[in-house]
Amino acid sequence: MAGAMSILVLNGPNLSRLGKREPEVYGYQTLNDINRGLTASFPELKFEFFQSEDEGALLEKLFHIEDTGGYRGVLLNAGALTHYSIALRDAISGVKIPVVEIHLSNIYAREEFRRTSVISEVCVGVISGFGANSYHLGVRALLGLSGKQ
Ligand code: DQA
Repeated sequence: MAGAMSILVLNGPNLSRLGKREPEVYGYQTLNDINRGLTASFPELKFEFFQSEDEGALLEKLFHIEDTGGYRGVLLNAGALTHYSIALRDAISGVKIPVVEIHLSNIYAREEFRRTSVISEVCVGVISGFGANSYHLGVRALLGLSGKQ
């Protein structure tokens, strides 16, 4: 698939624990299961998967793909960083690649502090509450975009 544009699936803190972590909230699929599901559902697309517990590593990954080029967009589940990381917000705002904010759970139907996302404003859109399917819907959203809108 030479030359195909990649989609980066970027996951932040605690998402490495999916499957074990509060399955009643986040489901029983591991992050690997979710990633494999994406590859299986969209065989024509090229994915790159990256997860880190570290805010700085997520920022560096975003900058790296911006500098490398060849990426159609990013699906970002920033975990708890969603609710407070101005550094992440600034990084998203500073790159030209469209970023779709993804959440497994419906962050608006949970604790009050989860209802604030400091990144939504600089993302092209938000998909929240559909479990692993949030990532699939995010891919479809990215495919419908022509750039950062
Ligand atoms: C989450 C929601 C966040 O509030 C939480 O901190 C997470 C996961 C989700 O996918 O539903 O780690 O982003």
